[in-house]
Amino acid sequence: MKTLSRRARLAAAEMSALTAFFTARADPARAGRADDGVDLTFGDPHELPLPGLVAALEAHLQPRSVDWFAYKASEEPARAAVAAALRDELGLAFEPADVAMTQGAFGAIALGLRLVADAGEEVVVPAPGWFYAPMVRVADLVPVPAPLAPETFDLDLASIERALTPRTRVVVVNSPANPTGRVYPRRQLDALAELLEDASRRLGRRIWILSDEPYRRIRFDGVGFVSPAACYPWTLVDYSYGKVLLAPGQRLGYLALSPLLPDAQREALRGAFFPTQMAVGWGFPDALMQYAVPDLEHVSIDLAELTRRRDRVLAALDGWGYRMTPPEGTFYLWGAAPGGDARGFAAALAARGVQVLPGTLFGSPGHFRVCLTATMEMLERALPAFEEVGRTLGGGAGSPAARTTSAGGEHGA
Ligand SMILES: Cc1ncc(COP(=O)(O)O)c(C=O)c1O
Repeated sequence: MKTLSRRARLAAAEMSALTAFFTARADPARAGRADDGVDLTFGDPHELPLPGLVAALEAHLQPRSVDWFAYKASEEPARAAVAAALRDELGLAFEPADVAMTQGAFGAIALGLRLVADAGEEVVVPAPGWFYAPMVRVADLVPVPAPLAPETFDLDLASIERALTPRTRVVVVNSPANPTGRVYPRRQLDALAELLEDASRRLGRRIWILSDEPYRRIRFDGVGFVSPAACYPWTLVDYSYGKVLLAPGQRLGYLALSPLLPDAQREALRGAFFPTQMAVGWGFPDALMQYAVPDLEHVSIDLAELTRRRDRVLAALDGWGYRMTPPEGTFYLWGAAPGGDARGFAAALAARGVQVLPGTLFGSPGHFRVCLTATMEMLERALPAFEEVGRTLGGGAGSPAARTTSAGGEHGA
């Protein structure tokens, strides 16, 4: 007899590689993890929380009224602070009513999908990309992977076009992109907007963009950022404070409507925020997090230090013949696994006490991801293992053919 819903089974199937990874990781014997091992897998903090974050929470902890911790939906001061920041950052006329406060980007993605897509419709997701597929499945939707351009990991319009069908409702764009670190230039986003406008007209149904932007403020070398919301009116922007504050356990984020959306649709979506969020399980951030938003808008991890870590690790890996994709944003490094087998590579590193994510988890069996939220001391401790494993598995490590590729580098914004 059936126990699990079809959606729960499908979501679990989409998660199977990640679940297996978590299970193996939790078992030190299987993972080959040493006690003084270095964990470079996920975007978790390895240092005490930012003082600005702690101060903002302390400042709002003491109740100022009897309803301080009463039920809270999207609170007006939080929405106003977000709308002002978005106006500033994206140059678009966001209003507070365009913003729904959510529990991180996870909550915003779940909300966005439920607002515009009906059961059975398709959602185009980037490959390699973050773990959108289970979220799509559990919303009774169907994920359709669209491979990014090989080597550069740019948006590949031909591949997105091939993924479109008469059932497509949403195309997910993630910039800066996890795991590749790419930031898509305006030219690519304008071309995508044109493609989706044509396809929507041809198919007689509106295709939306869900612009997943939790790393929007984590960019290197002055690279500009353009949101798809500026190029395509039918765009929902999702954001999380979990990355820029490096506090993903304090669930805070939002979903925002592109102000370019036609008035009738903008009004309909604004009105649907509350009932839909209530219905997905009171999907609002805690009261305390919402009070802190105006203060938290000015707090960030140290981007100069993150740049130093990126440069140190990239230079070392480059010197040992690794073929990396230098990130323009995010706190990840993405590269080709020496020997071409991500699982074998990750296992060899794990045997030396260093944990990285094999690209298999992102649908890329020949790549790996390193997370730079580790301290410089941890990274230094990990580097000898990369040198040894690169030499052992890479064979031709150091050969010109195995060198780091450089990204497109055309950011007009
Ligand atoms: C691309 C991307 N989108 C969304 C999320 C979810 O962010 P949060 O956990 O802060 O909601 C993550 C987290 O890793 C991510 O990398």
